Amino acid sequence: MRQWPRRRRINCILVTGGAGYIGSHICVELLEAGFQLIVLDNLSNSSQQSLKRVEVITDKELTFYQMDLTDKVAVTSVFESHSIDAVIHLAGLKAVSESCELPLKYYQNNINSTLVLLELMAQFSVNKLVFSSSATVYGEPEKMPVDETFPLAATNPYGRTKLMIEDIIRDVCQVTALNTVLLRYFNPAGAHKSGLIGEDPNGIPNNLLPYVAQVAVGKREKVSVFGDDYPTKDGTGVRDYIHVVDLAKGHLQALQAMDEDREIGQCKVFNLGTGQGYSVLDVIKGFEKASGQKVDYQLTARRSGDIAECYANVSLANEKLHWHAEKSLDEMLEDAWRWQTMNPEGYSND
Ligand code: WQD
Repeated sequence: MRQWPRRRRINCILVTGGAGYIGSHICVELLEAGFQLIVLDNLSNSSQQSLKRVEVITDKELTFYQMDLTDKVAVTSVFESHSIDAVIHLAGLKAVSESCELPLKYYQNNINSTLVLLELMAQFSVNKLVFSSSATVYGEPEKMPVDETFPLAATNPYGRTKLMIEDIIRDVCQVTALNTVLLRYFNPAGAHKSGLIGEDPNGIPNNLLPYVAQVAVGKREKVSVFGDDYPTKDGTGVRDYIHVVDLAKGHLQALQAMDEDREIGQCKVFNLGTGQGYSVLDVIKGFEKASGQKVDYQLTARRSGDIAECYANVSLANEKLHWHAEKSLDEMLEDAWRWQTMNPEGYSND
């Protein structure tokens, strides 16, 4: 990956949702690259412990504010107190199934928090934004691999908030100096090699990886495999799992691209994935190999809203961001296992 130019225009970065699984890994990469970090998080689905461990990993400090991004008065005070050069916007509710049960909670939180952020960025002339979008905006793609020109069609309220936010940002970029990079994450997995930070879902994990890890460590009995009758190599769902550290590095490359961009009002979109799909059974077998533990599972009915397969065409990010995922599925699973065994109760045992 390219080195940063000696004189760069971005020094102070605001990371919303920076205490979360992806956010904490992004904070590690940004601190190690020498940026000054301001982190906002309401800790509704994360722990401040993750940020303390980020500081241990990097031996650097960050500034943390526990606040809700919908609280415009509070967030204004942050913009008044710091000379922010760029924003990485991760804060948001992200459970697909919960969004189907509580759509208004998702629209209110995810949309309003973004509107507050964009209004304050305009007010304080902060014109560089990286937004955490998701492959879920592609809905059920007609063919694979998925590239950024594919039609957009979210199939659940969570995905629709991501799509609405993308549209809001595109509209704002049209008429202001705001420059944005929209990063569409595929399936983040794994953990920092130290085992100090990782995925710590509240309650029963919705996502496959943390659930498999909890079965391997004996916290749960078996994995329910949601359907084995999909038109895939072994009938189970295929996804593009990307190591969370690779994902984090993609944000650094996006910032560098923006830092060098002379034009204003740009809104660029990139898939962040590996370009390789793995099935549910691949992940279960891989986790048994990585952990040396048996992972029991049972075949059950499909989960509503799931699609058969989804994996990325990543050539645009490779070329324009000079970024590519470097870590294998085995490494993701080994790193996830290390996090799980070092933190059987997540951050709560600190
Ligand atoms: C992966 C595969 C399931 C759990 C979602 C969001 C996406 C992003 C990642 C937020 C599928 C199967 C899962 C289980 C299973 N979230 N599965 N048993 O649904 O691809 O993506 O999470 O940004 O936006 O859409 O991820 O990990 O839930 O499922 O069989 O207990 O594992 O059917 O094939 P998904 P997932």
